Amino acid sequence: MSAPSVPFDTLPLAIAELRAEIDAALGRVLDRGRLARGPELPAFEAEFAAACNARHCAGVGSGLDALELILRAYGIGPGDEVLVPAHAFVATWLAVSHVGATPVPVEVDPRTYCLAAPSLRDTGLVDALTRRTKALIAADLHGRKVPARQLAPFCREHGLRFVVDACQSHGARAVDGTDRGLMGDAAAYSFHPTANLGGLGDGGAVVSDDAELMDRVRQLRSYGATFDTGSDVRGIHSRLGELDAAVLRVRLRHLDDWNRRRQDLASKYLALLQGQAEVLSPAGDAASCDVWHHFVVRTEHREALVDHLRAAGVETAVHPRVACHQSAAYARQFAGRGLPLAEALAAQCLSLPMSPHHTAEQIGYVGRAVLAFIAGR
Ligand SMILES: Cc1ncc(COP(=O)(O)O)c(C=O)c1O
Repeated sequence: MSAPSVPFDTLPLAIAELRAEIDAALGRVLDRGRLARGPELPAFEAEFAAACNARHCAGVGSGLDALELILRAYGIGPGDEVLVPAHAFVATWLAVSHVGATPVPVEVDPRTYCLAAPSLRDTGLVDALTRRTKALIAADLHGRKVPARQLAPFCREHGLRFVVDACQSHGARAVDGTDRGLMGDAAAYSFHPTANLGGLGDGGAVVSDDAELMDRVRQLRSYGATFDTGSDVRGIHSRLGELDAAVLRVRLRHLDDWNRRRQDLASKYLALLQGQAEVLSPAGDAASCDVWHHFVVRTEHREALVDHLRAAGVETAVHPRVACHQSAAYARQFAGRGLPLAEALAAQCLSLPMSPHHTAEQIGYVGRAVLAFIAGR
């Protein structure tokens, strides 16, 4: 089969653009020979905290670990309930399950795919809040910041920890430019290689202003131990390594520029596709989805659109294909529970090619191919 004209994954181009800087960073770490507990991790943690406009950052092994460590550090566990988006990447739910708590799904805002305070009220789950509800995890899905200024008061009012799953929104700012507090009480990041800020393999971070919380996260990520006193609690081992930290320091220097490139490409898609009812574009303008981890359209004819684009040489992806509550991991727990919007979104959403290494010509080509699909129906 010939290579697609527009691939979905452009990671080789991202690496190529930064290859000299990455080689220098890796060489520095290898020359030093300290692959654990060296200076790169604390340096990256300080730089990423500053980039998030936060006081503290702790590097960990993955985004899922970051979410789990936040919940554990808050003491959330068996018998507790955590509100999660019904339309989500499954890791958001898994973190809750891994600490022994129960994920309580809430339908998202159909315009933004994020939890929003009005949608919390619409779903009736406000009434379902119980005294066991301890936290809300809202996810910045596709790179769009959750409406933290709505959600924070909701969480305060109900005594919930407000956790942001920011695994898809590195570098995102509020539309008004002030980003303080947008991370909730604590935020979890993933540094999966294809994230807006990606490392060599798996990695993640917890970011927060809360010094006490971060002390507990640091303890829990390292066996629950301080080496002098042994393990105080039963922690896990979740490390962001020196090589990854060194590469992330390089990538971080380019984050804003690469996010701007994504925004430019999103503007192009939106200009081409806005107003099409058959294939819905993301709501708002290019600035409203901050960092465009994905460019997601929604159509009842998704499989036909996938086939049409594949025939045109365009690779696409689906995130997620199965609603979390219907996935094998959760089907039994949520048997008989209907979440119609989450089910519709899993059946109808499609991610079009989007990365800093797609060209405007490629995006124009994809946009016109979508228009041709609509015209042909
Ligand atoms: C929204 C969201 N949450 C959590 C995760 C989990 O991150 P990781 O793959 O680093 O465990 C991801 C990963 O892509 C994600 O997209």
